[in-house]
Amino acid sequence: MKIAIGSDHAGFTLKQGLAAFLSDAGYEVLDVGTADGGHSVDYPVYAFRVADLVRSGRADKGVLVCGTGIGMSIAANKVPGIRAANVWDVSTAVLAAKHNNANVLTVGGRLMALERASEIVKAWLNTDFEPRHQHRLDLITAMEEGREPQVNT
Ligand code: RB5
Repeated sequence: MKIAIGSDHAGFTLKQGLAAFLSDAGYEVLDVGTADGGHSVDYPVYAFRVADLVRSGRADKGVLVCGTGIGMSIAANKVPGIRAANVWDVSTAVLAAKHNNANVLTVGGRLMALERASEIVKAWLNTDFEPRHQHRLDLITAMEEGREPQVNT
């Protein structure tokens, strides 16, 4: 499985650690940068790179790290087909997979250590989507296509 990963300066250290963790676990890691945590960069640039790899199928899933994970999730979710979830513990990571079929996970490099982030990413990757939620994802797709989601009667 190919995992695209990216960060801004605030997420750089955690991104480096997660890339090594994923590589050691046998995943193919596509690191889109930033390659240097020493100077300030703009998180949407890296959010787009990861989102574009995932939406095009060149990566199966994506991981993004900024200071909080919030900016990365806002930016990545602008790309059609991306369901980016900003999570902070194993429970939210598992639910992001089960209920939302999140194809991108975002975490806060200023909010958690590598050990916790690794457990979060591992839990997300090892949890399957529950298809009973598919019709809700279809409603989100409708919104991306400019249609109003229809009430489920
Ligand atoms: C950068 O200072 C910070 O704003 C960014 O990493 C992120 O937390 C934004 O959501």
